Amino acid sequence: MVEKIKTLIEEVNGFASNDAKEIEAFRIRFLGKKGTVPGLFSKLKQAKDEEKKVLGNAVNQLKALAQEKITLLKNNLQDFDAVRSPVADLTLPGDPLTPGTRHPISIVKNKIIDIFSKIGFNISEGPEIEDDWHNFSALNLPKHHPARDMQDTFFLKTNPELLLRTHTSSVQVRYMENHKPPIRTISPGRVYRNEAVSARSHCFFHQVEGLYVDKNVSFADLKQTIRFFTEELFGKSKIRLRPSYFPFTEPSAEVDVYWGLDTEADYRITKGTGWLEIMGCGMVDPNVLENCGINPKDYSGFAFGMGIDRIALLLYQIDDIRLFSENDLRFLKQFKREIF
Ligand code: PHE
Repeated sequence: MVEKIKTLIEEVNGFASNDAKEIEAFRIRFLGKKGTVPGLFSKLKQAKDEEKKVLGNAVNQLKALAQEKITLLKNNLQDFDAVRSPVADLTLPGDPLTPGTRHPISIVKNKIIDIFSKIGFNISEGPEIEDDWHNFSALNLPKHHPARDMQDTFFLKTNPELLLRTHTSSVQVRYMENHKPPIRTISPGRVYRNEAVSARSHCFFHQVEGLYVDKNVSFADLKQTIRFFTEELFGKSKIRLRPSYFPFTEPSAEVDVYWGLDTEADYRITKGTGWLEIMGCGMVDPNVLENCGINPKDYSGFAFGMGIDRIALLLYQIDDIRLFSENDLRFLKQFKREIF
């Protein structure tokens, strides 16, 4: 019987085929229910005890070889079919890769970063979960200030000392704590406010805030920087600064850019005035510099902050801020070509 198994093993080793039917017939012959291998196993039961081990090993070897052979041949067959089939015509041009698209918020953010890097600003980033000091106290926001109201700020349930930053001014505080002037930095990032979600406002949005601290920095420097920015981003350099109030800047101003009233859309966007509010700004309050370890006697600075989402809504003529965070591909795919 051992001899017979040896012959069968040789036969298995020698078998080759490119034909599915032949391979299947081979499988049935060796491994099928009534095939050679099961037949040998049943004969094994009748063998003498001393022969059982040797014979058992031989039959198992035959079985393993046959299985291996069949798998190998079947795999070859698939490759063979693939090469032969028209789908794999190697002379055909390749499948084009569909490139992804950038999110409109990223496009606008990158553009703003580009503009400020041209005039020497670097980028700084910080944590979205902040402490009271960096988001409020260091920025001259006293305990009773309305911006600290629960309605505006998300505090962490697990630790009410911590909150989701309401602006990226917190990054500016961190930057001043760790760097000496001259400082020129912009801080892009996501911010959170506890506001009702609607087409015009969301409980999270994106900002770019800027900070310039050096010797003899003046309000004129601030104005020039903003003019340069609006010219680069919108192609419009007519701006006006309206007196305003922020706890961390003194004096403070709101910046409007003259958008014009040429079209129906301009009329709607600017509510018939031609002017569009785009950011807040001011001279960094000496208290803030001091809180961050910079001597206000030696240095002065300006800061500004703007919402990216609002600018993106404007530039792309989108009328619902919620679209930015719904991840609807039909919306997102429209931003294939950048507008800048
Ligand atoms: N931090 C302000 C905001 O979130 C914007 C701002 C920054 C205003 C810097 C003035 C100076 O609205």
